[in-house]
Amino acid sequence: MSQLFQRKPIAELVEETHGLHSLKRSLGAGDLIMLAIGAVIGAGIFGAIGTAAAGQIGPNGEVVRSGAGPALVFSFLLLGGACALAGLCYAELAAMIPQAGSAYAYSYATLGELVAWIIGWDLILEYAVGNVAVAISWGDYFNTLVRGFGVQLPAWTTTGYRTALLSADPQIHGLLSTAPRVAGIPILLHLPAFAIVLVITWLLLRGARESATANNVMVVIKLIALSIFIAVGATHLNSANYRPFAPNGFRGIHQGAAIVFFAYIGFDAISTAAEETINPQRNLPIGILGGLAICTSIYVIVGAVLTGMVPYKELAVADPLARALELAGFRTVGWFVALGAAVSMSAVLLVFQYGQPRIFFAMGRDGLLPAWAATVHPRTKIPSTTTIITGVFVALWAVIGDAAETYDLTNIGTLFAFMLVSVGVLVLRYKEPNRPRPFKVPLVWGVCILSALGCIYIMLGLPEAAWRRFGWWLVIGLVLYFTYGYTHSRLHSGAPARTT
Ligand code: ALA
Repeated sequence: MSQLFQRKPIAELVEETHGLHSLKRSLGAGDLIMLAIGAVIGAGIFGAIGTAAAGQIGPNGEVVRSGAGPALVFSFLLLGGACALAGLCYAELAAMIPQAGSAYAYSYATLGELVAWIIGWDLILEYAVGNVAVAISWGDYFNTLVRGFGVQLPAWTTTGYRTALLSADPQIHGLLSTAPRVAGIPILLHLPAFAIVLVITWLLLRGARESATANNVMVVIKLIALSIFIAVGATHLNSANYRPFAPNGFRGIHQGAAIVFFAYIGFDAISTAAEETINPQRNLPIGILGGLAICTSIYVIVGAVLTGMVPYKELAVADPLARALELAGFRTVGWFVALGAAVSMSAVLLVFQYGQPRIFFAMGRDGLLPAWAATVHPRTKIPSTTTIITGVFVALWAVIGDAAETYDLTNIGTLFAFMLVSVGVLVLRYKEPNRPRPFKVPLVWGVCILSALGCIYIMLGLPEAAWRRFGWWLVIGLVLYFTYGYTHSRLHSGAPARTT
């Protein structure tokens, strides 16, 4: 029983990062801010924003969620506030425990092994499943791009099976009966989503530093794309589109926030690079909070312009920013923004495909996953085995998955992790009050409790199906822990750190 709550000493966590098998330190504060923007601005603002504004109807005409309408800007502000609180908590722990593994490593030091495992397992929802949603959205914008060249790919090669099943659009739902069949099963594959994941995985296998450089270039492109959207869209605002401002009242703002929370995921991802960061005590807090502040400002402006350009009900599409420009008569600009969107999402894919293997790596090093998870490539010094496994998992899910469904699952998992991290800060302040903290959360009780409550509140805006699936995910994780991790844990057995 005591093993379940045994905490990993922080000194040991820090020690592990100095050994022979540690990762190479090459990232500075600027790289981290770029990495944060790379992770944050993506499918959420280019894709999920449409459903958040317009709401979602199920295949049988039922309301799956209410839209925020133009009041979406309040959803963004609400989320910006909640994420800033959680970001402060991440910053304290990340600076104190500068190790690969993010919330997983922090909770091992604060809340014990069982909670650490639950978080590590939960983070798969944030990173790997989140990337499924991004890859699908990438594929949707890719379609918009090739259509601009007059190329129309067959619908069955650009629509996942789940999307057809869940869609209220008769044309998309109808694919279930019109798609080619093999052994009676309709073949509905999102091939662009599949392909981009494989390309990103290949890029990552070339090494972390090269990936950070590629990320920097992509960040600049995404900022240009959003600036063009704002500048052109702002010339076409119609005040009639802002009425009614909040068509579904506070419920719409709440449920809109619960899906577009996806747009904020990622500022915490840079903490997974702690082990590869130069002077993490100073650079991590700057990277996390700086990146978050920049992204919130951009979202509020994009949300205000988007809902002012077209009636919010028109936004229930896979590529809302490009569609809004098209409807406003700016077809060529829409194509360029679609190009920027595709590039932006590639950057998100890169950061998340980068983070997930490092979480697996940390869990493998602790013995909670088998030894192969802690393998470091001798030349590139990256966790290559887990990089490949992540790539295959994400690609296979993306080829048949649905974006909205995966946004929900990712959001609930991530909010749960944020909540536990916020509680973890308080626990560690209480248990180890004198430990040096390079970055301290101000007004710690108020901030941590508000942060945890904020996460729960946003989770409550998600559909019931997301809660059910999340419950099952946790049950599967617990079964795995008690059948493997519990007996193989290095902390429990006292064996030295495992890396090969
Ligand atoms: N925040 C990231 C995105 O919106 C995950 O794509």
